[in-house]
Amino acid sequence: MGSKTAARNAQDDGGRRDVYKGAMSSASPDLRTVHVDLEARAYDVLIGAGILGGLGDFLAAGTFREPVAIITDARVGALLGERTQNAVLAAGLSSFMIEVPPGEGSKSLEVLAHLHSRLARNKVPRSGTIVALGGGVIGDLAGFAAASYLRGIHFVQVPTTLLAMVDSSVGGKTGVNLPEGKNLVGAFHQPKFVVADLDALATLPPREFAAGMAEVIKYGAIADRALFDRVANGVTAEDDDLAEIVEKCVAIKARIVEHDEFETKGERALLNFGHTIGHAIEKATGYSRYLHGEAIALGLRAAAWLSVWESGLPEAEAKKIEAALLDNDLPLELDRKVDREAVLAALGNDKKVASDGGNRWVLLSKLGEAKSGCEISLEVAAKAIERLVA
Ligand SMILES: NC(=O)c1ccc[n+]([C@@H]2O[C@H](COP(=O)([O-])OP(=O)(O)OC[C@H]3O[C@@H](n4cnc5c(N)ncnc54)[C@H](O)[C@@H]3O)[C@@H](O)[C@H]2O)c1
Ligand SMILES: [Zn+2]
Repeated sequence: MGSKTAARNAQDDGGRRDVYKGAMSSASPDLRTVHVDLEARAYDVLIGAGILGGLGDFLAAGTFREPVAIITDARVGALLGERTQNAVLAAGLSSFMIEVPPGEGSKSLEVLAHLHSRLARNKVPRSGTIVALGGGVIGDLAGFAAASYLRGIHFVQVPTTLLAMVDSSVGGKTGVNLPEGKNLVGAFHQPKFVVADLDALATLPPREFAAGMAEVIKYGAIADRALFDRVANGVTAEDDDLAEIVEKCVAIKARIVEHDEFETKGERALLNFGHTIGHAIEKATGYSRYLHGEAIALGLRAAAWLSVWESGLPEAEAKKIEAALLDNDLPLELDRKVDREAVLAALGNDKKVASDGGNRWVLLSKLGEAKSGCEISLEVAAKAIERLVA
């Protein structure tokens, strides 16, 4: 792209941003924006209550073409499908909706192929747009459909779970699972725009909200002591400062992704704090006993103690992490029925996969400060897992 064209595009983008920000801030006076600065792939994450209605204005102001494919799951579709479609129609754009069954099972090659066919049958062009309306499952699935259909079309994330708002809708990781493992097929494909309407959280089951809080606690622990202290006493969907909390998490993720978009430099690995043992627990329990955030809560507790033993985290701060998990209705103790040997074995597998670069363990030196690439022996890891049933 010549520099004149780039400058013109930047101006166009600026104009478009004014249009949609205007539309959304009239819906939500407390609108917050986090810019993810990835040069040609830069985008805004808009956070506020009641902003879904502005979605159509953004699409109409941009270079998006009809029809707009709204991909959602049946549960979210029943709650928010009509409102989303009306927002698109009101802006004069045609749209159609594709619903898939709720749950991780939809993150599959089969469902992906179904989406590709529906997009082709509806003649969605390269300039068309996919709107991913739902939690992380829909964001990952619809995002990968957008990355792969016609070698890549535009997509917009409309996250409806707390986890998707603070984590999965930002950063461009998309993909599906294989029977052989989670997220084994995918692509980096950044959205054009993220609309996090906090009103959507009103219908989210408390257990799902709590699962999202595990990631929020993670952000505070790795990067923002003040955020950690705020959320440590518990957060609910009704809290006045929820927009600010979501904004802080998104900003932390955005800064990390800006420095390490493709996870080649170790920085993005910081987001994996609590995830090494968390993932092993999910794997050892067949991805059914715990929600992702619940397994991460257990992983955060284990990583806190590993940090005490191996990287100088004061014991009092590990106890603060435990208290924060408890006060956000997250599990602290691993179900005794879970085979701890299997959890350890799942870690061992992980190690083989990661033998190219390490970066497996993220530990804290204090609350708000993390480092990646820490070496931990399996014996010490086993001790941390045992601590979860002590
Ligand atoms: N791409 C990334 O960077 C990234 C990061 C973290 C997690 N993920 C992925 O995210 C997925 C988990 O996402 P999730 O926790 O959002 O799960 P999810 O998408 O399965 O949503 C959880 C449940 O809540 C329901 N739901 C969603 N929004 C609702 C609402 N507003 N009201 C009522 N019910 C609602 C859904 O139908 C579903 O049953 C996993 O597949 C994980 O791998 C991806
Ligand atoms: Zn996670």
